[in-house]
Amino acid sequence: MAQTLPKPGMRPFLPADTAMLAAIFSAAIEELTGDDYSEAQQEAWASAADDEEQFGERLASELTLIATLQNAPIGFAALKGKDHIDMLYVHPSVAGQGVGSMLCDALERLAGSRGAKSLTVDASDNAEEFFKKRGYVARERNTVTINGEWLANTTMQKMLETGGAQT
Ligand SMILES: CC(C)(COP(=O)(O)OP(=O)(O)OC[C@H]1O[C@@H](n2cnc3c(N)ncnc32)[C@H](O)[C@@H]1OP(=O)(O)O)[C@@H](O)C(=O)NCCC(=O)NCCS
Repeated sequence: MAQTLPKPGMRPFLPADTAMLAAIFSAAIEELTGDDYSEAQQEAWASAADDEEQFGERLASELTLIATLQNAPIGFAALKGKDHIDMLYVHPSVAGQGVGSMLCDALERLAGSRGAKSLTVDASDNAEEFFKKRGYVARERNTVTINGEWLANTTMQKMLETGGAQT
């Protein structure tokens, strides 16, 4: 974590990336969310990538961007429709080094170019501070069930218009 990363690249998702992204998804949940979620909750959350074909279809159906280091994926983010961040996951080995910010910057620009006035995300508890620092405001507390486990998250929103109100 103390090492400084060379500048990561960024490119769109290709179906051949699915297995790598499923691995990043599982590793990020396993290693970066344990302060806020129990092991059973983490397992239930990570199970969304167990069926790789289905996970690949989800990635392909959204605007999915991949951050790379020497051409290898190190994180990814997916925009659903024009205004909802569905996924943002960074490999734990490079967490805290700006990769999540780079991906989120890109999604915010893309959402703006798709005409979105604001962007929402159902932020996991561990990611709430990350989004807050970027200007997202908590709107609603949610509880979702995945594989019989209850997980809490918070819908957060950021206004994209320059000078837009953030109340
Ligand atoms: C949330 C996540 C994507 C952040 O990615 P990252 O590459 O580590 O984030 P960055 O390095 O760009 O961090 C940007 C800022 O947010 C802060 N931040 C990042 N993660 C944080 C956390 N868990 N708690 C508090 N602050 C955090 C950083 O300290 C940094 O602050 P600074 O600008 O003052 O230095 C990553 O931790 C992750 O994959 N988490 C697990 C999966 C997850 O919960 N995804 C969100 C689903 S909605």
